[in-house]
Order: sequence, then structure tokens, then C-alpha cells
Amino acid sequence: MDLDDLSIDESRIGRELSRLAEFSAAPAPAVTRVLFSPEDLAARAYLSDLAAEAGLTVRTDAVGNLFMRWEGSQPDLPAVATGSHCDAIPHSGQYDGTVGVLGGLEAIRALQRCGSAPRRSIELVMFTAEEPTRYGIGCLGSRLLAGVLEPAAADALKDAEGTTLAQLRATAGCTGELASVELASGHYHRFVELHIEQGPLLERDGVDIGAVTAIAAPAALRVKYGGPGGHAGAVLMVDRRDPLLPAARLALAVDRAARESGAPDTVATVGVMDVHPRAINSIPREVTLEIDVRDIDGPRRDAVLEQIDASAEQYGNDARCMTAIEVLNADPPATCDKTIVAAIEAAAAAAGLSCQRMISRAYHDSLFMSLAAPTAMIFIPCREGISHRPEEFAAPSAMAGGVEVLARTLWQLASEK
Ligand code: GLV
Ligand code: MN
Ligand code: MN
Repeated sequence: MDLDDLSIDESRIGRELSRLAEFSAAPAPAVTRVLFSPEDLAARAYLSDLAAEAGLTVRTDAVGNLFMRWEGSQPDLPAVATGSHCDAIPHSGQYDGTVGVLGGLEAIRALQRCGSAPRRSIELVMFTAEEPTRYGIGCLGSRLLAGVLEPAAADALKDAEGTTLAQLRATAGCTGELASVELASGHYHRFVELHIEQGPLLERDGVDIGAVTAIAAPAALRVKYGGPGGHAGAVLMVDRRDPLLPAARLALAVDRAARESGAPDTVATVGVMDVHPRAINSIPREVTLEIDVRDIDGPRRDAVLEQIDASAEQYGNDARCMTAIEVLNADPPATCDKTIVAAIEAAAAAAGLSCQRMISRAYHDSLFMSLAAPTAMIFIPCREGISHRPEEFAAPSAMAGGVEVLARTLWQLASEK
């Protein structure tokens, strides 16, 4: 097929992104869309309708991953897949993940407008809960697809209200065994994900497209400290066992451990510190920290994790507080597929766009899809590299460029024998 006629509907992507952003629990411009909340369910319905309008066959699995398929001329061959996520962490922006989903849909529609069906089917996937907001673990849907999360353990996960994933997905109409989510080996021929960079490099260097060659290894720890609590006026300092104190020391130790790793690629963040009962005249009784640690180098990330774990234990003992440490996940880094990276570079050249290779410091469903199929990612610039904030922004022309590169890449991969 002649891709010279390929044209991306830039204004339609913008309109659909804006509409999707309205499904939010936070007022605009912030977006909050948590797994299986009313907003998430509305976003899913909106996306399914758009996919059906485009003539795609829509299917949902037991964890709510949504599959939207454009049938190829040889439908028995493993499909080429693309996609990303539509859930959004509290008070974030409207581009993270959604550009890869609505952009994937527009890539398919643009190819459809060129006139003929691909050899291999092209399947758009919207993954369930890439963000860890509700269950503390990211990439729920893609972990289950790749078979690296035990289905019974996933079903037993509890959110802050004590609702298990098994209960929640049933109320969202996702019935069936989680074990059925795992993809058979060879199910997909290739996977490619379009995403905003979430960092400043493409914009700073004036480059249109990033071809992602590797994805940094994420890990998350939950540390709980407990003490007897008590009256803030009546309990003397000498008698206290205040769990906020080891938590505060640990926050500093987390920052120090990352800074002292010797590599700028090591990052560590305390993103959650919940104090119970959170009253000014009450000594805290329980403090929970959630700690995110990442590095492109797996062993170096693990060394930092061990250091944080040892500090957590020691500070709890020093304060005579109950200490519980739980590793929520510690995943290896991913290497992207060279053939797909080359296809992305060729697609960028054909689209007249500049392209550079880069690593992804954020994690993505691609981290787990790379275990199920050869995988790579296409990055586009976002303003000042801002992400996970309401100010997140990608220019319409940058999105259209990314969609064109995605469409060309999908066509190339779907044409492979
Ligand atoms: C994904 O949102 C990440 O935290 O990298
Ligand atoms: Mn995100
Ligand atoms: Mn994302």
C-alpha cells in the first residue's frame, strides 16, 4: 500500500483527548482517573464506542484489558499490537498513556483511510491500571498478560478501603478467571507503544521522535511503623515511641541512598507518607511510607533497595517501633527489540521527522509486554518534560508526528511474513 497518502487527523486527536480528560474526579486541568472508578468506566465506554465506530472488534479480558482489533488479510497470523493506558494518577495531566491509546486508534484510522487491510491484524490494547494508585502495584493488566503476576495474588490485592481486586473487577463486569488473562506464547508478533517522553530531552535537543531502546527497572517498597500513640500533651517525651520519627529519618535515607549510588540514573522517591490518626494533638500510631526506586542498571537498583531496607529496619529498632517492610515489586529492566527500533527510525525518516535513540526512565506496559513479544516504544516531546502534573502538555503537531511514525511502523511490522 502507498503510505504517501497517509494523513493524520491532528484536530481529532486533540478533541478526543479533551473529551477523555473530562472523565476525571479532579477539576480541569487536573485529571484523576483511578481503576474502575466511575470516571475510568466512562473512559472505557467512550473508547469502546470510538473503536466500534472505526470498525474494530472490541473484547475485554478478566482484568479489564480492552482489545480493539483491525482484522488483517491473514487473520490467523499473530497480530501486531499497540496501546497504552487511560488511568491517571491523582491530580495528573491528560497525555500520559492516553496519547498511546487515542493515538493508536488514530494510527489505525489513518491506515484504514489509505484503503487496504494489513497482512497481519493490528490490535489496539488499553491496559488496565498501568498506574499503581489503587493497588500499589503498577502495570496490573500487562503483568497478568505477560504471566509474571500470580493470578490468585492479584485477585487478593486490597485497596485502601479493603476491597479486593476480585471484588472490584466483578462489580466492573469483568468476570472469569484471572489465569485466563495470560497470553499464549507467540500470541503477538510485535508490540509497539506510543507515549509522551515525560522527560525534557527531546524538547531540549529539538528532536521530534525518541526510539526507546531500554526501560529502567522499577521497584516499590511499603514500610509501616507502629507505636502506641497517645495524647500529645500528656505523654512525656521520655515515654514516647513515635513512628513518625523513623519514617522521617527513612525519607532522608532514601534520598541519600539514590544520590550516593554514583550514577545519575538512580532515582528514589517517597511518594506516600500516611500518618494515622493524623490529628495535631495525637502522637501518631501508624505511619506508612511507599517508596519508589529505579535505575536502568538492575543490580545497582537492588543495592540501593537493600540499603533502604537495612535503614528502615534500623530506624524502627532505634525508635522501638513495630516495623513491617514489604517489597511490592522489584522488576528487571527491559531491552527493546532492535528490529522494531530500526522500523521506528525508518518510519521517522519517511515522515520527515528527526529521531534519536533513548532510554525510558518511566516504566510502561511495554516493560511487561517485552516479556510476551518483541517490543519497543516511540516517544514524543512534552513541554518542559513535565508529567504526572496537571501542566502536562504535548503539542498537537508533536502528537500527530508520533501517530504518523506509529502508523508507518505498524504497517511495516504488520506486513512482515
Ligand atoms: C509510570 O507512570 C511511572 O511511574 O513510571
Ligand atoms: Mn504515569
Ligand atoms: Mn504512562
